[in-house]
Amino acid sequence: MSKLLQRYNDRERMNHWFVVLLFVLAGCSGFALFHPSLFFLSTVTGGGSWARILHPFLGVLMVLSFLGLFLRFVAANRFTAADKEWKKQMGQLLKGNKSAMPAVGKYNYGQKLVFWLFACSLIVLLITGFLFWRPWFAPYVPIAVIRVAVLLHAIAAFVLVLSVIVHIYAAIWVKGTLRAMTRGTVTEEWARSNHRIWYDDAMKR
Ligand code: HEM
Repeated sequence: MSKLLQRYNDRERMNHWFVVLLFVLAGCSGFALFHPSLFFLSTVTGGGSWARILHPFLGVLMVLSFLGLFLRFVAANRFTAADKEWKKQMGQLLKGNKSAMPAVGKYNYGQKLVFWLFACSLIVLLITGFLFWRPWFAPYVPIAVIRVAVLLHAIAAFVLVLSVIVHIYAAIWVKGTLRAMTRGTVTEEWARSNHRIWYDDAMKR
């Protein structure tokens, strides 16, 4: 049987699942406010009034918790020259030809891209959200700025949700990945075939 390697510690996993919980709560309350056809989602946060009251606070809390993940993983998500090669071969991966992919460290180019999409969409959501947060901040902001902010807020939410869908799909599609975030460990075989450079480093350690 393949040996297990530690990929995430308890704190990292707690941080991750707390972000997921807040993503669901802020997402449901936000979608409920976005369109009447999605109003049923306000049930998740206790009805329409509570969705309106809680949504901005849940959003701020989600960004703050994501900051925890950001600080932990930003170094491993920096783009390097090797990522260019991975990007070139991406078509091969989608065809199922894993062997054509170059060796990668802790994260591959696709994961890094999703990480930066998370970070960028969350910062746009935070800044624009403050601009039209009534009654605290919106009265001090010109209406033209509020209009643009509302539009950018919706676009950033769309990008975030799409990125999360890609993130979940990849976690399920690459067999053996989910356990990294549920149990904290991955098999040696998983590490060797998906993150060769990270695997070599882990073996040296
Ligand atoms: C049900 C939803 C989710 C599932 C099943 C899930 C699953 C996972 C798994 C399995 C990993 C480990 C990947 C690896 O080590 O190769 C991971 C890492 C990570 N996840 Fe999630 N995730 C979910 C939602 C989210 C959300 C909503 C966010 C933030 C908005 C997020 C942010 C991250 C980050 C920052 C990492 C570290 C890896 C990286 O930097 O690329 N996840 N997730």
